[in-house]
Amino acid sequence: MTFRQICKNKNTDKWMYADAYEQEFFRIRNKPITILEIGVDRGGSLEVWKEFLPRAAVYGIDINPTCAKSKNIFIGDQRDRPFLYDVFHRIGGADIVIDDGSHITSHQQQSLDILFPLLNLGGIYVIEDLYTSYPSPFHSCYVDGISTVDYLKNTLDKLNEGGRSPDTCPIPTTVLSIRFYRGICFFLKKTSRQISQIKLIEPPPTQPPSGLLRRDNALSEDKENSRNKE
Ligand SMILES: C[S@@+](CC[C@H](N)C(=O)[O-])C[C@H]1O[C@@H](n2cnc3c(N)ncnc32)[C@H](O)[C@@H]1O
Repeated sequence: MTFRQICKNKNTDKWMYADAYEQEFFRIRNKPITILEIGVDRGGSLEVWKEFLPRAAVYGIDINPTCAKSKNIFIGDQRDRPFLYDVFHRIGGADIVIDDGSHITSHQQQSLDILFPLLNLGGIYVIEDLYTSYPSPFHSCYVDGISTVDYLKNTLDKLNEGGRSPDTCPIPTTVLSIRFYRGICFFLKKTSRQISQIKLIEPPPTQPPSGLLRRDNALSEDKENSRNKE
């Protein structure tokens, strides 16, 4: 069944993102992964995940205690770092995190900052309902400060400048790609193989001492050649 068909008769509005989820999750549909969704409400989306990803272990987080209808649902705040660490510890890590919680822009950013570094390598972090990054009379999720879309644009800038500031921003060095659809964004985390390539693609220093660059490069080429021969 398609994602859209699975969403029918379920208490969720996930069908809004059917095309995006079909596109991004197609390759992992039959993998034994762990998925954690922030925002459980009536549990409709957790049912969707169980059906769409039949081999996945499905967990949820919600701030509302009435959502605690199974042992796979944890009650707490999506901004609460110790709580989130504890959840990750209990479920043994996660391959996919979906933020469908408060939709308040500062909360979206805090959860991303806390959880992206914890996500398994090769994992996917999803933020839904990005329309809350724009002021609207219909919701009160947009708060003062930087919007989530602007925050993501800044992350894109860091990604494109070559990850030159890994100490101040840990996200770009492990982000493989950031993919936007209408109202939803997918962060793909590098696999361990891709992480091990980072050293090889680092840009050279902008102003090397004269003569040194050629020698260094030759050395690294030699090293690379001998590695390839091994
Ligand atoms: C849009 S509903 C989730 C819908 C659900 N994912 C679905 O598609 O069926 C948002 C949920 O986020 C929860 N929530 C709101 N603020 C939260 C916070 N700070 N931390 C965790 N959950 C929160 C609400 O209690 C509500 O149940």
